[in-house]
Amino acid sequence: MLTFASLSLLLLLLTTSSACTAIGVSYTASDAASSPEHIAASLRSHRISSVRLQAPQPSVIRAFTYSNISLLLEVPNHLVSSFASNISAANLWLYTHVVPFYPRVRISAISVGSDIVTASQVDLADLLIPAIQNLKRSLDSLGISEISVSTTFSFIDIINNSFPPSSAEFQEPINQLLIRPLLQFLEENNSSFFINLYPYKVYTLSAEIPVGFALFQDHPYNFRDDSVTGVRYRNLFDMMVDAVIAAMTVSGHENIPLVVTETGWPSYNSGTEPEASHHYSEMYYQGLINHLKSGLGTPLRKEGVAEAYLYELFDNDTTQVTGSGMQNWGIMYPNLTMKYNIAFSSHSRRFHGGAFAAMTAVFSVISALFLL
Ligand SMILES: *[C@@H]1O[C@H](CO)[C@@H](O)[C@H](O)[C@H]1NC(C)=O
Ligand SMILES: *[C@@H]1O[C@H](CO)[C@@H](O)[C@H](O)[C@H]1NC(C)=O
Ligand SMILES: *[C@@H]1O[C@H](CO)[C@@H](O)[C@H](O)[C@H]1NC(C)=O
Ligand SMILES: *[C@@H]1O[C@H](CO)[C@@H](O)[C@H](O)[C@H]1NC(C)=O
Repeated sequence: MLTFASLSLLLLLLTTSSACTAIGVSYTASDAASSPEHIAASLRSHRISSVRLQAPQPSVIRAFTYSNISLLLEVPNHLVSSFASNISAANLWLYTHVVPFYPRVRISAISVGSDIVTASQVDLADLLIPAIQNLKRSLDSLGISEISVSTTFSFIDIINNSFPPSSAEFQEPINQLLIRPLLQFLEENNSSFFINLYPYKVYTLSAEIPVGFALFQDHPYNFRDDSVTGVRYRNLFDMMVDAVIAAMTVSGHENIPLVVTETGWPSYNSGTEPEASHHYSEMYYQGLINHLKSGLGTPLRKEGVAEAYLYELFDNDTTQVTGSGMQNWGIMYPNLTMKYNIAFSSHSRRFHGGAFAAMTAVFSVISALFLL
């Protein structure tokens, strides 16, 4: 009887601990040498279950028909003002990008613009909420309720005081102008908060962060304590996620799911950052995937982020030209072989993290039962 009870507990704890993040990849179709159909097939063979399409052509969306890969579509920034002023523009976009393919193509969400509002540039804040509302109304009028609508921000543009995470807040004035009303909309409509989150960028800006802390390396000195909450962080990604959670909590919406729409580490940089290397990039992706698959979550959110999209599928030589030179962020070569030896599938999950915590809990419960 005792054995049966322990066994049920074991099963219960193991199941509850394995709620893990869906891992996807961000794909800009214009970079690819292969056809979108080949790319969709290749993504499936690597067990990548979700794809974020930036400024997608309808032909690229069609390539995912019956692939069972869920898509996050991004409306380009230049359409935001027409969506805001004219619901027909939102309708027209849906009639070309969604209606012909849905639901044979699994479309899970639409981001109206990406990174269009930063703290220094607030003109578009007035347009973004009306654009999102018009797209939502347009979906409603088509009877499509399963596709959620949101917009995408960048961590470094909107978060203030991110260390320690518990002191983080959204920057003003966009917090009042845009983020609070957006969070209200997201909560009412079961949508998620979308954020581009790069430990690499925070690491390159902060000399005191050890590279291993940004790369998920277990090391006795790789930790940071949040002196307010008393929580210990073992990687920079969790600190950044919890900074976003803390900022949402200050704004009164701590339960909105978080989707990391971009995260990555460059494998090459023509400039002066030696950490942009193949080796570090591989460490980042494998560390990230292991961490997300562990089901451990973060100290402030035990279920962790809902989804995370690796940035990006192919090297894109035009978009990431920064002050420090050209950077390569792709995880796949144009011939569709993976650059890195990383596994997306949860079947290859190593025994660590969540499973270990669950086992420890089970053993203490079992010991407690025996003591009774
Ligand atoms: C489709 O994907 C979902 C979630 O990614 C999964 O649960 C389901 O089993 C998949 N269906 C098929 C037929 O592969
Ligand atoms: C609204 O958008 C539609 C579709 O793009 C366009 O045909 C129409 O001219 C627009 N109306 C106004 C008033 O801008
Ligand atoms: C939000 O999700 C809950 C639970 O899945 C559901 O009951 C509710 O109807 C949804 N609300 C909207 C506005 O979609
Ligand atoms: C794919 O391209 C990469 C980089 O150019 C090369 O190293 C690799 O051998 C190629 N793989 C195949 C199967 O052709």
